[in-house]
Amino acid sequence: MALALNINGKPTQVSASPDTPLLWVLRDELLLTGTKYGCGIAQCGACTVHVNGEATRSCVTPISAVAGAKITTIEGLGGDHPIQTAWTSRDVPQCGYCQSGQIMSATALLAAKPKPTDADIDAAMSGNICRCGAYQRIRAAIHDAANGQLEAQKA
Ligand code: FES
Ligand code: FES
Repeated sequence: MALALNINGKPTQVSASPDTPLLWVLRDELLLTGTKYGCGIAQCGACTVHVNGEATRSCVTPISAVAGAKITTIEGLGGDHPIQTAWTSRDVPQCGYCQSGQIMSATALLAAKPKPTDADIDAAMSGNICRCGAYQRIRAAIHDAANGQLEAQKA
């Protein structure tokens, strides 16, 4: 039985069983492989996507729970989102494996708090593990994106 999802603004029918984790439907059925598998138990953040704008671990989210919701993956940011520009400027990615999840958590944070403090960033990003230890650059890039957004709003 097909289940209707909304992925990156597009209504999408998927054939996986309703208890399948969203991560595997994204990667294996829809070939949206920007979302990564790290731990599978909601501990690392590599699989983070947005569900109705909230950072969500897709590895533990069955598709039945997100039918009708707006799901956004890293592909849905388009590549020129201000946070992606800031990420590039700061050379944030090292091996890159955690980065989709980091960016999706960061964009959810900025949507909720356009000018986050260091403490806000640490609290929002603490569930996203980076084996390469890029945490300082991640924090700097989030501040850059926040400052850029404020300037764009003033213009
Ligand atoms: S793969 Fe989902 S939190 Fe680690
Ligand atoms: S950049 Fe390598 S795990 Fe984060």
